[in-house]
Amino acid sequence: MKFIKPLFYLLTTVLILSSCCQNAQEPKEALSIKNAFKENFYIGAALSASQIEESDTLVSSLIKKEFNSITAENMMKSMHIHPSKDTFNFELPDKFVALGEKNNMFIHGHTLIWHSQLAPFMTQIIDSTEMVSFMQNHINTIVGRYKGKINSWDVVNEALNDDGTLRNSVFLDALGEEFLALAFKLAADADPEAELFYNDYSMTNPAKREGAIKLIKKLQESGVKVDGIGMQGHWNLETPSIEEIEKSILDYASLGVKVAITELDITVIPSPWNLQGADVNQNFEGSEFMNPYPESLPDSIQTKLAKRYADIFKLFLKHQDKISRVTFWGVNDGQSWKNDWPIKGRTNYPLLFDREFKPKKAYYNILALKEEKNKSE
Ligand code: G3I
Repeated sequence: MKFIKPLFYLLTTVLILSSCCQNAQEPKEALSIKNAFKENFYIGAALSASQIEESDTLVSSLIKKEFNSITAENMMKSMHIHPSKDTFNFELPDKFVALGEKNNMFIHGHTLIWHSQLAPFMTQIIDSTEMVSFMQNHINTIVGRYKGKINSWDVVNEALNDDGTLRNSVFLDALGEEFLALAFKLAADADPEAELFYNDYSMTNPAKREGAIKLIKKLQESGVKVDGIGMQGHWNLETPSIEEIEKSILDYASLGVKVAITELDITVIPSPWNLQGADVNQNFEGSEFMNPYPESLPDSIQTKLAKRYADIFKLFLKHQDKISRVTFWGVNDGQSWKNDWPIKGRTNYPLLFDREFKPKKAYYNILALKEEKNKSE
């Protein structure tokens, strides 16, 4: 009998050790936002030039750990990639694509035809023949170079005004609305496998939504391939409402295309447009009212932001069958364009990682939401 106790301890030790070894052979998947949502949709981030260059190893490992899709925040815009008529600048775009390939990421191209950030030579094109030949050269060269590597493209970006009408641009001036179908046709010809998106902001506003639906229907009627609609998602703590976001996802998906949330960030500081009679051109720089949290985000607002993100992701999960990708517009708060727009030099907190690249409450709320959903299924 006196052997029973030692035998019991020996057996327990063997069991613990063998389970440890098993765990060592099959490491548990790292806790990360991309892993949490891997069955639902891609989780992406827009990368800055230095992030594409992998100049900071800690940031690079965070990007690899947390995201399975990437977009270049600026480097593929026409002024950078096609700075003059016969010059293309592929140095950073090549690095961006290599980074995505190395890490098995879904690579999104942003953007082919956009009225903004144009190379100066493009603003001189007024003749329709010249515009067609510019678009052929631009789209064939860029999409062709990354054929089979870049998985999806914002073919046309922000072609609509807020009232749903077509925005004035060099493209509209030279070709009329035909420029839209031409862009999609050229992109499909250059890479038939790439997914082709129309991308815009304020896509939850009823008038713009109507305009976007009309635009997509026209493209579909003209026989060109359109695979998806990108809702940029530059949102606030209160607006747009979950109902408007949901209605938009449903209406866009009913066109038979994928929906992607392409540029998600949530502003926590005041917008000059919410002020009575405020004009964004007024000088708000240095104003305490417009830059209320220059040092750190108060807990109460951190909690509000976390709840807002959780509500939004709850909706995304509800419609996961319609949503292919959710991309954040930046990796951390320090990088966000929202620090400089619409007023320069403010301190905003719109993303999931803080200025030290530490996960915020919103990050944990989103993970907890997924955990809860897993348990209830
Ligand atoms: O790189 C230069 C730097 O050398 C210079 O010292 C500095 C001075 O201001 O400017 C730097 O360039 C800035 C660039 O971002 C990189 O930070 C440009 O001025 C600035 O205009 C540019 O802003 C970008 C903006 O698009 C315009 O292209 C933002 O980073 C980028 O987040 C934003 O992204 C757009 C999407 O492409 C389309 N949807 C809306 C979204 C937000 O505006």
